Amino acid sequence: MPVYKHNTVLEIARGVKAFLRLEAGLTRGTGSADSRDRLGKDPLNLPGNGIAGQPKSIKVAIRNLQREVKVAAEAAEESAKSFRALEGEKGLKVNLGCGEDVRTGWVNIDLTSTLPPWTPSDATFVNHDLRRGLPLEAGSCGFVYSSHFFEHLEYEEGLKLMHDCYKALSLGGVFRIVLPNLTDWFDAYLRGEKEYFDLLDAILPELGTKTLIDYINFGVYQFGQHKYIYDEEKLESVLQRIGYSSVSPSSYQEGLDLDVPLRRRYSFYMEAVK
Ligand SMILES: C[S@@+](CC[C@H](N)C(=O)[O-])C[C@H]1O[C@@H](n2cnc3c(N)ncnc32)[C@H](O)[C@@H]1O
Repeated sequence: MPVYKHNTVLEIARGVKAFLRLEAGLTRGTGSADSRDRLGKDPLNLPGNGIAGQPKSIKVAIRNLQREVKVAAEAAEESAKSFRALEGEKGLKVNLGCGEDVRTGWVNIDLTSTLPPWTPSDATFVNHDLRRGLPLEAGSCGFVYSSHFFEHLEYEEGLKLMHDCYKALSLGGVFRIVLPNLTDWFDAYLRGEKEYFDLLDAILPELGTKTLIDYINFGVYQFGQHKYIYDEEKLESVLQRIGYSSVSPSSYQEGLDLDVPLRRRYSFYMEAVK
């Protein structure tokens, strides 16, 4: 798994600075003719050497970028350490994109580093961007679980991660996936059944209207958070192609799936066995 070192981060930041200097033609002595006026002055009236010469907004953007890359690099180093600590373990239970559903006895993974105050203190949580894969040893997992997560990844990213899950599972291990049941949403839309969507009223942002297509847009796009949507047929065929020995639709399972009205009404469940 690639880990960005701080030196790499600084190199990236230096590269961005150099690129912006070139773009603006502001590097001392190398400014292009058309970046200066006829009196030889910088048309932006900026000092000509580097970052100090950039408009304030660019300086702020670069500083923010540096800070974000640094935070991401630190998180990546931290998550690599957490995964190294799991080396040699067998029968792991993993919860991908756990959000606030952090479970004791599981390896809970999420991009967010902010956990709710009720998070069990003995739970294993790894702050990790799953677009970078699942760096667990082959055959080390007995169960991989994910609820309302894969729709947040681009198709190629999701596919790659599903392959990683297959690799990480031991023979007979189970991959359980819970996803938004948009087939039911489209059915309700076509039937004009507004009541089906009423649980969403509490979380749907103010749009000025509350039409059936507003609910559909929310389910499919979630204001850009959803990148790719699945239905049973698609998920089943993807998992079969990956090589799972059996793939079958499932239903809500107490003690395993989230017992909250939003999840109970709007989910479909699938299980694949390696
Ligand atoms: C809709 S929430 C689902 C949370 C929980 N599993 C549930 O069913 O309520 C989606 C979660 O995926 C996480 N997520 C999105 N992209 C991610 C990524 N690239 N790597 C890891 N987690 C990610 C988000 O931070 C969020 O917690």
